[in-house]
Amino acid sequence: MLAATAAQATATASQSETIAETKTQSTAVQWPYVNTGLKRDPELEKMLDQILARMTLEQKVAQMIQPEIGYLSLAQMRKYGFGSYLNGGNTAPYGKKRASVEVWLKYADEMYQASIDASQDGSRIPTIWGTDAMHGHSNVYGATLFPHNIGLGAANDPDLIHRIGVATAKEVAATGIEWSFAPTVAVVRDDRWGRTYESYSEDPAIVKAYAGQMVSGLQGSLGKNFLQGYGRIATAKHFVGDGGTEKGIDRGDTLIDEQGLRDIHAAGYMTAIEAGVQSVMASFNSWNGVRLHGHKYLLTEVLKNQMGFDGFVVSDWNAHKFVEGCDLEQCAGAINAGVDVLMVPEHFEAFYHNTIRQVEQGLIPQARIDDAVRRFLRAKIRWGLLGRGKPSERIESGTAAVFNSQQHKDLAREAVRKSLVLLKNNGKVLPVAAKSRVLVAGDGADNIPKQAGGWSVSWQGTDNTNADFPNATSVYQGIAQQVKAAGGEVELAVDGKYRKKPDVALVVIGEEPYAEWFGDIQQLEYQHGDKRDLALIKQLKQQGIPVVTVFLTGRPLWTNKEINASDAFVVAWLPGSEGQGVADLLLSDAEGKTRYDFQGKLSFSWPKYDQQFVLNKGDANYDPLFAYGYGLSYADHKELGQFSEQVSVVAASSSDDGIQPLFVRNLASDMAWVLTDSSVAGSENSALITTPYGVSTDGNSLAMQSVNLSYQEDGRQLRWNSTAQASASLRYLKSVAASDFSKAKALRLSLRLDQQAPAELNLGVLCDQQAVCQRKLSLTKALAQLKPGVWHSVEVALDCADTSAVKQVSDALVFSSSGQHSLAVAEMVLTAQQSTAAATGTVVVGCAN
Ligand code: BGC
Ligand code: BGC
Repeated sequence: MLAATAAQATATASQSETIAETKTQSTAVQWPYVNTGLKRDPELEKMLDQILARMTLEQKVAQMIQPEIGYLSLAQMRKYGFGSYLNGGNTAPYGKKRASVEVWLKYADEMYQASIDASQDGSRIPTIWGTDAMHGHSNVYGATLFPHNIGLGAANDPDLIHRIGVATAKEVAATGIEWSFAPTVAVVRDDRWGRTYESYSEDPAIVKAYAGQMVSGLQGSLGKNFLQGYGRIATAKHFVGDGGTEKGIDRGDTLIDEQGLRDIHAAGYMTAIEAGVQSVMASFNSWNGVRLHGHKYLLTEVLKNQMGFDGFVVSDWNAHKFVEGCDLEQCAGAINAGVDVLMVPEHFEAFYHNTIRQVEQGLIPQARIDDAVRRFLRAKIRWGLLGRGKPSERIESGTAAVFNSQQHKDLAREAVRKSLVLLKNNGKVLPVAAKSRVLVAGDGADNIPKQAGGWSVSWQGTDNTNADFPNATSVYQGIAQQVKAAGGEVELAVDGKYRKKPDVALVVIGEEPYAEWFGDIQQLEYQHGDKRDLALIKQLKQQGIPVVTVFLTGRPLWTNKEINASDAFVVAWLPGSEGQGVADLLLSDAEGKTRYDFQGKLSFSWPKYDQQFVLNKGDANYDPLFAYGYGLSYADHKELGQFSEQVSVVAASSSDDGIQPLFVRNLASDMAWVLTDSSVAGSENSALITTPYGVSTDGNSLAMQSVNLSYQEDGRQLRWNSTAQASASLRYLKSVAASDFSKAKALRLSLRLDQQAPAELNLGVLCDQQAVCQRKLSLTKALAQLKPGVWHSVEVALDCADTSAVKQVSDALVFSSSGQHSLAVAEMVLTAQQSTAAATGTVVVGCAN
């Protein structure tokens, strides 16, 4: 390992020349040079010269590649010495979702040791670990979860953001992780985007005011404790225009002129760079048709040269594959455009070898590699990586007590109080006297997954229960504690069917959790087509009970009907782990005196019409229901009248393309995977799995793990490992009438063999509980034609003479095999048409098979 030198200690303090590289002549639009207080240290630069001179091309390329822990083994880390690695939103050390802080730290140590293993080469530079600490250290079981960014935006309190950054850095430090992929500094313009809640505001001013504060909170402040102690490397993301895509489509195209791109979407980078942010993540989106990951002008000319960003650019998850000429396993285009570190979760080995080859062939200039590695190592050394020792030896990791400390919980609770926005308070129904009889209803009432949202212990947040948040308090629990303490009475009835008539009902409702494109919507109307919660509010109102609606949401939605039906309406956003913060505002004390007043103001405009998709402060014909900046306090006396309930969206006529999805992108909510082994007879040998990975009950015969085809985790790898038969079924939780599948003529799927074809693989399609299937066949012959390691499109005919008459379908698909091999499946659909073979490259398995 390299020894730490004095350069490190002085890396941040030195007063040498500024970081500006040669500022190239610009195009028509000038981007500002961001004056950061961060100076380049000549000693550090000299040290980097020496390090680079000693490194082989292989070592340099390894620094640039970032695998993901679901796919990366310790042995691979030992072999290659990758410069960094990440855990994705669904992965925790050793596959343990509920791993403790100590387990995370142990894992960090193991990877660190593996990366510098002396048996390889004495000059290795330690690896670092990156994680999405999106709202607190939010992947980690038991962490303090702060409100998602949209709620923080409503607080409009930069100092609060700084303190949250500090607290988050401390919790990340406790687990030994060096680097956070946050903050998101998107400025969202169309709230149908599934990542709206990751944004502080539609207003660049708030994002600008916050970004630098969050960065200095996470990293430490320049001239003070920059990148020292608990300070973590921060990431401003996603550069640039992520919040401006057409129709709010995730990873879509942002159509805007360069000035708009700079003034609206780049606002956060100005202060993030000023605060010395060390990394910027490139965005999945395109700008006027060109993918950011291949955009040399924006990544190199604008960000690095003109704005003077001297940190490193990290790519987003497999995003390189969208760049012209690239695929999952190689991408000279992204590296040449200016990406320095590549997030290659799964195909990192191929990517490593391909990149080395591309340099040797002259497709990537050696100078570009040197620049990328220099940038990354500069940040690592500034952070002190060469002198801090392994994760568990660092002072800041020893302080596990900061993890979910009372101080952090109090801070999160303060943030909740500051983020709630009061839209309506007719008849001054709020605050509710804590000493009264309170009914708490709605499916968000005692539902921590719902108040936490996506990026909370799991990626989508949909597979969580309250038990996944051991230190958190639900909204109901917060209310119950305070009502009881004041001598009042509280009853929880999700459906509103109380035992004893209450004085007031607090109805907690809102969006189900989602992340990224899973959250993209077409409609702005809340519960479009299924007004369940509206019915609940009305049911209570009809009994003469005053109703306060608490709305949990990742974005403004068209809620005129719900607002009309409620006496008071509070937007709580996605408040995170501290439900008491909600109670603090809604309830007065035992004497009926207000304890905390509402301070939150809308940082996103609230729509008046159900089709008001793009609605932002400063619009030419700005006509919101509640304008940007709106938010009542208890001092306001305002009675709201009824709003129009006119709906202009007509239900889309369902165009029937004859495709019935079985497993496309993700597991449908009415399905599960079932892994069945042969260990015992009966149902005890069936493991029901709704997470992206799992293993058969004997812990061995068959394992499942998510893999990526076109999207994240849109495929499943099935790994057999026993001489006995084991099967993986894609099962309906409730069986479905076979008549629902009467149009199906073929099954289409993507399939990848990992090694050569197995000795045997059988498939059942549309099977009932007795394992009678519409079609049962051996795929062995078809598989023998497939080249391992690449995805193939396979089609299985279903409309065959010998198909059985199944009445109720329990399993859509059943794959059974034995031996030791693995394969991956994805994009499985039934189609009403069979394709004609070879033309499309599809492997057709006809009826004769
Ligand atoms: C990962 C997340 C990742 C997401 C990307 C998931 O498969 O678990 O960490 O961010 O894909 O969209
Ligand atoms: C997301 C990023 C995230 C990364 C790693 C991506 O899909 O877009 O925001 O940092 O996954 O989890």
